[in-house]
Amino acid sequence: MSAAATATASPPTTDAATATKVLSVNNIEVIYDHVILVLKGVSLEVAEGRIVALLGANGAGKSTTLKSISNLLSAERGEVTKGTIEFRGKRVDRLTTNELVRMGVCQVMEGRHCFQHLTVEENLLTGAYTRKISRGDLAEALERVYHYFPRLKQRRSSQSGYTSGGEQQMTAIGRALMAKPSMILLDEPSMGLAPQIVEEIFEIVRDLNTKERVSFLLAEQNTMVALRYANYGYILENGRVVMDGDAKGLASNEDVKEFYLGLSTAGRKSFRDVKHYRRRKRWLA
Ligand SMILES: Nc1ncnc2c1ncn2[C@@H]1O[C@H](COP(=O)(O)OP(=O)(O)OP(=O)(O)O)[C@@H](O)[C@H]1O
Ligand SMILES: [Mg+2]
Repeated sequence: MSAAATATASPPTTDAATATKVLSVNNIEVIYDHVILVLKGVSLEVAEGRIVALLGANGAGKSTTLKSISNLLSAERGEVTKGTIEFRGKRVDRLTTNELVRMGVCQVMEGRHCFQHLTVEENLLTGAYTRKISRGDLAEALERVYHYFPRLKQRRSSQSGYTSGGEQQMTAIGRALMAKPSMILLDEPSMGLAPQIVEEIFEIVRDLNTKERVSFLLAEQNTMVALRYANYGYILENGRVVMDGDAKGLASNEDVKEFYLGLSTAGRKSFRDVKHYRRRKRWLA
């Protein structure tokens, strides 16, 4: 189905029909501070072995969606007030973040949180704390991370606070990898990084996806980069999915290009406005 054909807030339509569904978010509503309605019925799916991009501008609700899944909202006075979340067919909306990690779901938070005073390797080791593992397994897990992130091996004894932004992002992803997840929720990996480093990180994400079969739900403002690496994408606006489709279709969709590549003319405030504008233009023509 083309992206344009699914251009409205939609029931979860994905390629999940042909692959095992790993994650399913069904019509969730999220409220902060008991009154601020931020997600207004978001539905999405991630199929096994896929990279799914969750796109949208500043404040659209991407991080809120990821935090709803990994149950990190309560720390911010947020609450899922409607809808359900399922991981491999089981309801997970009441599980703690730790329980989810044990089930194989890890989140890498926006802003690449590392313990600044710990070394890169010590940061990575904190990622294994939910697993009871032997020293041998721990060493093997570390080597696996270093295999995918050779830069981290070079910097293993450096204090994280003195490593570059890209290295800190790699440390944050590497730490999640230490828990041997089958799914990673990755929030804005490109934030504040030079384009070359962004590519390097996305190449590693692709590698983890193809070689380790890790599924990804990837929140990104950097739409075009995310769509180059993802299989499928959802566009969020103001707490709602306004469009979804396979990544190639979305990337070549004129409305998406117009809005996200900044080709829009002044005065248009949202993706929906672009749609209205285009419709009017067609009508005038
Ligand atoms: N703890 C909170 N309390 C109240 N409102 C919040 C809280 N966290 C986020 N919001 C609001 O929820 C909306 C969605 O925020 P969210 O961080 O999910 O967006 P986002 O798509 O991740 O944006 P960005 O691309 O800037 O990271 C915004 O309007 C934001 O102001
Ligand atoms: Mg965010």
